[in-house]
Amino acid sequence: MSLKTLLQGAVLMSALAATSLMAAPRDLIIDTDPGADDVVALLLAMASPEELKIRAITTVAGNVRLEKTSRNARLAREWAGREEIPVYAGAGRPMVRTPIYAANVHGEEGLTGVQVHEPNKPLAKGNAVQYLIDTLSTAEPHSITIAMLGPQTNLALALIQKPEIVNGIKEVVVMGGAHFNGGNITPAAEFNLFADPHAAEVVLASGVKLTYLPLDVTHKVLTSDARLKQLAAVNNHASKLVVDILNAYIKFDMDNYGMLGGPVHDASVIAYLLKPELFKGKQIHMVVDSREGPTFGQTVADWYGVLKQPANVMWIEEGDAQGFFDLLSARLARLK
Ligand code: RIB
Ligand code: CA
Repeated sequence: MSLKTLLQGAVLMSALAATSLMAAPRDLIIDTDPGADDVVALLLAMASPEELKIRAITTVAGNVRLEKTSRNARLAREWAGREEIPVYAGAGRPMVRTPIYAANVHGEEGLTGVQVHEPNKPLAKGNAVQYLIDTLSTAEPHSITIAMLGPQTNLALALIQKPEIVNGIKEVVVMGGAHFNGGNITPAAEFNLFADPHAAEVVLASGVKLTYLPLDVTHKVLTSDARLKQLAAVNNHASKLVVDILNAYIKFDMDNYGMLGGPVHDASVIAYLLKPELFKGKQIHMVVDSREGPTFGQTVADWYGVLKQPANVMWIEEGDAQGFFDLLSARLARLK
């Protein structure tokens, strides 16, 4: 090999090294209602420390009651070997509407397909809403990303108490909403928005940089027998948990919506943070309907801009399903 080639290789390697050094991990808080797909999202995130510096996991009632969503977040942390990450419990009920749950989808324990137990490490002291206020108030300007995997109650309550915390937020990436193909909990609404539309309105009105991954995209990133086999082939404890969870979780959507595979809704948010190039969307204007009635909780997405209103959300509508499962498999392989 000529000296010139060697030097070119050395220059390339140092450039690559500099690039990887420059891409500092994203400061992240994961707000979640685990939930089967939430646990898959948490494992994916906790397996990716180079890209995601998880400051905390904050829990909210949603799929099941707060005590169980908080226990399940602690379980995911234990399974990922990341018990240094604090878990703060937050709101036990939505801001206004009567609480709803989805135990029929996620199981009575909120984690279908696997045995649960009481994790060793307890919750962090203090409420998640206060944690959000304290952390976002003192953060560098626009430095912290929030991955929002359940009802948006915790962040909404924090914004109501201290609106200026918006200055500490880089962006909020939400699993929620639905436009092109209708909802999953009602014909018009997706569960997370239906569970607390008032909270979603507060977050939207705050002016924070928002990205939504609605059912429009999560219903395109679906399991298949081959993809479940791909996950199983990772052949470690984490991948076995994910396969067992997904095999149980996807039954509801496949049986009730006639889908050929099951979605992994919340994990798409983490995949978006890790590899945004897997997804496509556009900036649009969106409003949330919180009026009682058949469209309660609907996200009214002006995809064609007919209202000529300013865009307030990046609406993700396409996703590379195989790329998602390749990423999930590769990252699960890093866990035990
Ligand atoms: O509609 C899907 C969403 O509702 C997911 O976040 C799932 O975990 C449930 O919370
Ligand atoms: Ca969720």
